[in-house]
Order: sequence, then C-alpha cells, then structure tokens
Amino acid sequence: MPPTDTAPEDPKPAETEGVSTAKGDATKSDATKSDATKGGAPTGDVRKGGAAETAAHLPQSGAPGIRFEKVVKRFGSNVVLRELDFTVRPGERVTLIGPSGSGKTTILRLLMTLEKLNEGVIWIGDNTLWHMDKGGKLVAANEKHLHEMRKQVGMVFQQFNLFPNMNVLRNLTEGPVRVLGVSKDEAVARARELLDMVGLADKENAHPSRLSGGQQQRVAIARALAMQPKVLLLDEVTSALDPELVVGVQDLLRDIARESDLTMLCVTHEMHFARDISNRVLMFDQGQIVEEGPPDQIFGEPTEQRTRDFLQAVLAS
Ligand SMILES: Nc1ncnc2c1ncn2[C@@H]1O[C@H](COP(=O)(O)OP(=O)(O)OP(=O)(O)O)[C@@H](O)[C@H]1O
Ligand SMILES: [Mg+2]
Repeated sequence: MPPTDTAPEDPKPAETEGVSTAKGDATKSDATKSDATKGGAPTGDVRKGGAAETAAHLPQSGAPGIRFEKVVKRFGSNVVLRELDFTVRPGERVTLIGPSGSGKTTILRLLMTLEKLNEGVIWIGDNTLWHMDKGGKLVAANEKHLHEMRKQVGMVFQQFNLFPNMNVLRNLTEGPVRVLGVSKDEAVARARELLDMVGLADKENAHPSRLSGGQQQRVAIARALAMQPKVLLLDEVTSALDPELVVGVQDLLRDIARESDLTMLCVTHEMHFARDISNRVLMFDQGQIVEEGPPDQIFGEPTEQRTRDFLQAVLAS
C-alpha cells in the first residue's frame, strides 16, 4: 500500500443516501447466503411480494469488499476508533454489535463520508475511499474521487431521513436523476418497481409525513436501492419503529439480503434479526473489536466476558 502523506479533505455530506452502478473493482460475491427464515407475519404494515418478487428488482452484479486499516477517529480528545482493522468480504453481511458509544455509527458514517477519518485508510474494493493514488502515493481524495466512491455506498438511517418536502416517488427519483444522471423516465420506472417491491406502489404521491414509520422506512430502503449501491449500510433501522411495524421492515431486509449480493454492514440491537441477516458478527467495545465470529457462535457461545455481559444486558432490556 502506498504511504499516505496528506490528511483527507473535509467530509461532505453525500448528495443523497444511496448510490450507483460502480465500475471496475467489483468482485463477484463469494459469501455464503444464509438461510434467512421468515420472522412471522407482519401485523399492520404488510407488504406484497416476498423473496421472489424482491429478487427481480435487486442488483445482482458483484459487490466490493471493505477494509479498514489502522483507522483512527477522534472527536476532540475522545478517541472513538483506535487503529481499527477489519475486513468485510465481497457480498458478506456483517453485523456490528456493542454498547452505546462504542463507535458503530461512526464506522458507518465514515463509509458514507459523513465523517472524516483522522488516520488510516479505508478501502472499498480496490479503491481507497478517503485517499487517491498519485504517483504511487496516497494523497487526500479530491471531490471528484469522493463523488465516485460515494456512488457505491448507500445507507438507511434509524430516523428514515426522507426528503420531507418531496412525495415518495420524487424521494426515489431525485438522487438517480441528479447524482447518477439517469433519465427521468428511467428513474420513475425504476422507482415504481422498487415501490412495488416494498409494498408501497399505491403511495407514490404521498408525502412522508402521511406514512407510518414502517412505511417511511420501507421508502427509505427503496430510495437507497434506487441509487444502485454495491454496499448497503443499515444503522438500527427498526429501532424507531412501533413494535408491530418492525417485522415487516425486517422481512423486507431479509429478502434483500438473501436475494441480492450487496455487501452489507448492519448495526442492530435485535439479535434475532442479526442472526438471520448476517454471515458474521463483530462485537465492539471502545472502538475496538472484542470478538468476532458467525452469529451462532457469538450469540450462542461467546468466548469473551465482555460479549457475554453485553448480550445479557441487551436481553434484559
Ligand atoms: N459528531 C460528533 N461529535 C462529537 N462526538 C461524537 C460525534 N459523533 C459521535 N461522537 C462520539 O463518538 C462516540 C461513538 O459514537 P457512535 O455514535 O459511533 O456510537 P454507537 O456505537 O453508534 O452508539 P449507539 O449504540 O448509542 O448508537 C461517542 O462517544 C459519541 O459521543
Ligand atoms: Mg449508533
């Protein structure tokens, strides 16, 4: 790896939380898809479709892996990530667990370029996110490089973050038209397919404020997918939902996980969901990985006391 000699530029919020058909570095997924099981019938926020219908609308091309190399992130004197190293394989689905403040959201925000890293290098596929290669040296990425890299990564947030002044259809078409340069007709056609997939075909003219939390989150998931990301980040996407709306959103994400080969990084406190959706779980504490392994091992036979304490606290809550 070339040496780095310059701090990256200030972070710029991604134009929208989604992104596009990246070229070049994509490697075909080699991760095993889990046998995700259905979590029971949704009550009150039902969508049509299911796995088969979902598959028809999802990107099936190769996804890049992710690598953090000695990543340091500080907020003032608070060192949130301490020389963090980890790798996510192409198409792998990894869940991050750990106590509040352990740095989980910060990791996702660094990948979205919503936060700037202080030290280290983040790779998406064969490309560095915050740096670019100049004559064999890694230098701070310019805006053009960041723009290209952002196209590969989409995120769904706890609080949905839909554009409140736009109807549902426009929430899905705005990014593809403005950021990806897709024609309006194509963006509308794709948006309608995705709305159908998430069971909200009849809501395209509604404004977000007129939708339930579960419906808003399904629009947010569709909006992220409309940008055709290769990497999908999920940050506690059901924790702001009323309990009866959680299952519908989780079912949708299980279908997406099973039927696409997106590389996924998921933060959740819902351990059943984590078990269903992920190939691997990373347990964090104070910005470092305490333990990692397949979900059955981490949830069934954790080796570290810190993990056992954390899981006990989550189960008790
Ligand atoms: N913009 C910010 N400015 C200052 N400190 C921040 C900022 N964002 C995060 N932090 C700090 O970084 C640390 C990690 O925060 P982060 O949100 O990544 O934790 P988390 O693991 O996602 O926690 P939770 O489970 O509560 O969501 C915390 O100490 C937090 O206070
Ligand atoms: Mg968080």
